[in-house]
Amino acid sequence: MNVPLLDLVAQYGNIKDDVERAVMAVIRRQGFIMGPEVAQLEAEVAKLSRTRHAIGCASGTDALLLPLRALDLEPGDEVITTPFTFFATAGAIHNAGGRPVFVDIDAATYNISPQAIEAAITPRTRAIIPVHLFGQMAALEAILPIAERHGLAVIEDAAQAIGARRQVNGEWRMAGELGTCGTLSFFPSKNLGAFGDGGMIVTQDPVLAERLRRLRLHGGAKQYVHDEVGFNSRLDTLQAAVLLAKLPYLAEWSTARARNAARYTEAFSGHPAVCPPHVDPANTHIYNQYTIRVPRRDELQARLKERGIGSAIYYPLPLHLQPCFSRLGYRQGSMPVSESAATSVISLPVYPEMPRDHQDAVIEAVLEFYA
Ligand SMILES: Cc1ncc(COP(=O)(O)O)c(C=O)c1O
Repeated sequence: MNVPLLDLVAQYGNIKDDVERAVMAVIRRQGFIMGPEVAQLEAEVAKLSRTRHAIGCASGTDALLLPLRALDLEPGDEVITTPFTFFATAGAIHNAGGRPVFVDIDAATYNISPQAIEAAITPRTRAIIPVHLFGQMAALEAILPIAERHGLAVIEDAAQAIGARRQVNGEWRMAGELGTCGTLSFFPSKNLGAFGDGGMIVTQDPVLAERLRRLRLHGGAKQYVHDEVGFNSRLDTLQAAVLLAKLPYLAEWSTARARNAARYTEAFSGHPAVCPPHVDPANTHIYNQYTIRVPRRDELQARLKERGIGSAIYYPLPLHLQPCFSRLGYRQGSMPVSESAATSVISLPVYPEMPRDHQDAVIEAVLEFYA
């Protein structure tokens, strides 16, 4: 049996007509740069995120880079984030001229620990980037007041969490709604994936929104006049057309992911070796990844592979131990919770179209391995 981690061909089969119509409209018009689909998608994503503004850009990485650039960091300025995330979160801090400061995560949710943030703040701290990892939001009700007390920006890395919600002080809030801004990725494997790269920033702040619109167009609001040096980081019109066609399906896809996740969790719950993801009761998880924690993880992955079952390790080497950040002075043991997660997590296939018998095969293979 071949059980892939993700099957985008299955998704495409279900939405082919909608997507092809949308793409062909752009092709017939030959209007590829900043066509009307970009603004339409921005309006739709702002509505979904309950923000006043949304700014499309070239990738989820650039969605982090642009607001970090808008902070005008000086050499030595620090941005606090988690080491248990995709590399882009910290790479963008470096590329914006800042120094990444890593703090450890919560052992249950794998999201950044608010207590650890507080302890890491210095006079040079400028911003915090909590990552809503795997599709579950970080503890914003604790993080936002810390930022407020110290005058720091909060950039929510919501690359894996479009449409995720959290109850913050008794009210449901969307990913990206409460921070200084939220950043999204449309990388094909995300819950809302483009046919290539794409990203977006959502924010309530009109001044920041204007600055980001300039920064994505070489720093100029008017053509050939550059107020500052920016980037070429537009969202392709073709990608915006694909995403607009897919967006009406996003809620049902995330529900299907959650249904698959619930089936796994039921099968694994109470098992002495397999620890299913802990969902904070304040969260609606969108399961970009279904990630379990297990002993003998690498052996399990090898066994799954033998059986034709796809899986992935997100993430095998925490960012504080990456060779490129060695000059920051972290060591093995600096972030024990992240380091332990990196050796014991494994993500299983959870995509919306996953056939039931494929999921049964995954469950059987995992349970048999630990029998
Ligand atoms: C947490 C996180 N941040 C940032 C990114 C970067 O997004 P992109 O690949 O669209 O540049 C990703 C995804 O790949 C991600 O998972």
